[in-house]
Amino acid sequence: MRNQIIAIGCLTVGLFAATPAQVQQLPAITSTSVDLPPGDSLFPGGASAEAINNNCLACHSDDMVLNQPPLPKATWEAEVHKMITAYKAPVDEGDVAAIVDYLVKTKGEN
Ligand code: HEC
Repeated sequence: MRNQIIAIGCLTVGLFAATPAQVQQLPAITSTSVDLPPGDSLFPGGASAEAINNNCLACHSDDMVLNQPPLPKATWEAEVHKMITAYKAPVDEGDVAAIVDYLVKTKGEN
């Protein structure tokens, strides 16, 4: 009886233990390269848009900003600081005022 239990135990382990051959049947992980079209659109406005073009196009397009509703200055200030603190946008502290000015002029609440 004891020998039968040992035999069944060995058989069970043999059936369920993963063998190297089974591990090799897993699909290979490959690295795929995808070229997404770059967003090459700039904020309009020439020189007045220089600060926002230099600081705000690394992560998303200008549309992300220009499609927002008109907002009061305090909200735009908070938005720029949210990009810096929450999303770690590398914005030059010296450019913040020019960016906020541009936002108020372009998408400010009247
Ligand atoms: C480090 C990356 C990064 C940079 C640089 C950046 N943003 Fe963003 N921004 C984000 C992320 C992430 C979101 C959220 C996207 C989403 O929800 O799909 C976002 C969203 C926004 C939105 C939509 C409203 C919101 O709060 O989700 C506005 C407006 C915006 N950003 C303005 C700006 C401005 C202005 C600048 C330049 C000062 C800027 N962003 C620079 C990462 C960045």
